[in-house]
Amino acid sequence: MTTPQAHSDEARERVLRAAGIDPNRVPEHVAVIMDGNGRWAKRRGEARVFGHAHGVESVRATVEAARECGVRHLTLYAFSTENWNRPKEEVDALMDLLVQSLVRETRELASKGVRLRTIGDVSSLPKACQNELIRAQEDFTGEVHLDLILALSYSAKWEMVEAIRGMMQDGLRQDEILPSTIDKYLQTADLPDPELMIRTSGEHRISNFMLWQLAYAEFHFTSVLWPDFRREHFFEAIRDFQNRERRFGAVPNLPQT
Ligand code: IPE
Ligand code: IPE
Ligand code: MG
Repeated sequence: MTTPQAHSDEARERVLRAAGIDPNRVPEHVAVIMDGNGRWAKRRGEARVFGHAHGVESVRATVEAARECGVRHLTLYAFSTENWNRPKEEVDALMDLLVQSLVRETRELASKGVRLRTIGDVSSLPKACQNELIRAQEDFTGEVHLDLILALSYSAKWEMVEAIRGMMQDGLRQDEILPSTIDKYLQTADLPDPELMIRTSGEHRISNFMLWQLAYAEFHFTSVLWPDFRREHFFEAIRDFQNRERRFGAVPNLPQT
C-alpha cells in the first residue's frame, strides 16, 4: 500500500520529469542574486520601489518552485553591504518591505516546511526587522522541507573578515587553518556549498556574493528581470544545471580509448 506521502512524491516526480527535470539530480543548494527590480519599475515609468514590491511575488514563486524540485537549501541575496549606499528612501522602503513580507508570509511558509534563516550582518538592520526575523525563526516548528536563507546586509568580503577575526579570537594555530576550518567560520558553516547560482537581469557578475562558497558552482545567468521571474524560469535554470558536466578540475568524462 502506498502512503499519502509516497503518493505525493510520485506525483511530484512525474511533474518534474514532464518538465524535463531529473528528480534525482536536483542541486541540494541553490543561490540566487535577485536583480533587476529598479529597471523593471523604470520600464513602467514607476519608482524603483515599485519593482522591489513586485519582487516579493517572485520570491514566493521561487520558494515554491525550489520546494517542488526538492531543493533543500535556497539562499536569496536580498540586500548587500553595498546596498546601504543607495538613497535613504530606497533603503527604508526595502526594510519596510522586508518587515511586511515577514509578517505576511512566514506563518504560511512555516506550515509548508520552509524554515527561515539569515546570513549577513543582521545587527545592522533596523530593530523592527531584527525582531521580525527572530519571531519568524522562533515560530518554526515541525519538519523542514526547505531552508530559506536570506542574505541580508551580506557581502562575501564582510563574511571573510568576520571569519578571520573569529579564527584569531579562538587562537587557532597556523597549521589548523584549512579550507574546512574556514568553512566552519563562515556564515554558511552548516550548509553545503551551492551547486547552482542564478542571477537575473542580464548582469554577469557576482557582486560580492559567496565568493568562497561558489568556488565550483555552476552559474546560470538569465536576462529575465527579478519581478518577472517565475517557476518556469527556475525550472529552466535547473535544466541548464543538469546539462552541465561538472569536472572539478578532473578530465572530462569521455569514453576510454
Ligand atoms: C535588486 O534589484 C534588488 C536589490 C539589490 C535590493 P535592483 O534594485 O538592483 O535593480 P536594478 O539592478 O537597479 O535594476
Ligand atoms: C546585488 O545586486 C545585490 C543583491 C541582489 C541584493 P546589485 O544590483 O546591488 O549589484 P550591482 O550593483 O549591479 O553589482
Ligand atoms: Mg541591481
